[in-house]
Amino acid sequence: MYLIAPSILSADFARLGEEVKRVIAAGADWIHFDVMDNHFVPNLTIGPQVAAALKPYLARPQGGAAVLDVHLMAQPVDALVEAFAAAGAHYISFHPEASPHTDRTLQLIRARGCKAGLAFNPATPLETLEYVIDKVDLILIMSVNPGFGGQSFIDSALSKIERARRLIDASGRDIRLEVDGGIKVQNIRRVADAGADTFVAGSAIFGCADHHAVIQAMRDELRNAGKVSKVA
Ligand code: DX5
Ligand code: ZN
Repeated sequence: MYLIAPSILSADFARLGEEVKRVIAAGADWIHFDVMDNHFVPNLTIGPQVAAALKPYLARPQGGAAVLDVHLMAQPVDALVEAFAAAGAHYISFHPEASPHTDRTLQLIRARGCKAGLAFNPATPLETLEYVIDKVDLILIMSVNPGFGGQSFIDSALSKIERARRLIDASGRDIRLEVDGGIKVQNIRRVADAGADTFVAGSAIFGCADHHAVIQAMRDELRNAGKVSKVA
């Protein structure tokens, strides 16, 4: 099942609640929440208090709530895991470079009732997965260098996605394969064909007033990739 996760990094921060509500009404599956600390990455964004404030806005018109997908680009990690779990995060992903104890941090995320994600920068190899794949619920492949929205997709991510897909299939585990950075209507199909199932898109969705049209166009592309998307 393919999932679309709009990144609110490209939303209007002055009216974030409304933006989240609007993009969910437009068909978003997840809300991707980018946390930057001006240390691990050269930018500064939003923290756990903002996540907690957005919680009521995650409700879907048809009932239930959108998944809050927190992407930590911050160091140190563990205190933020506690704070975001308390704020209502469903998934918490971090970069292995940002934690001295990747295995411990993965365990902490699950112990706090969240799904655990491991994020890989464009030049970071997947080797860590060999040792911790049993503790991972999501693999996040960065297709840009983290820090900013609106960058171009780095093509070397495609072979990494293929490799991650093989590792997931060999593990036999239920692990989502998410790709983040430079995803557009024009390239989403290639990314899906490489093996991804969860697609973060910031500027492509928030850069167009008609969010629904963009999300629909992405789903149409995904249908062409030969699989059925979640929302018809
Ligand atoms: C980049 C962030 C991404 C970003 C993607 O550091 O992790 O989630 O918002 O933005 P686009 O889709 O514009 O590349
Ligand atoms: Zn992100």
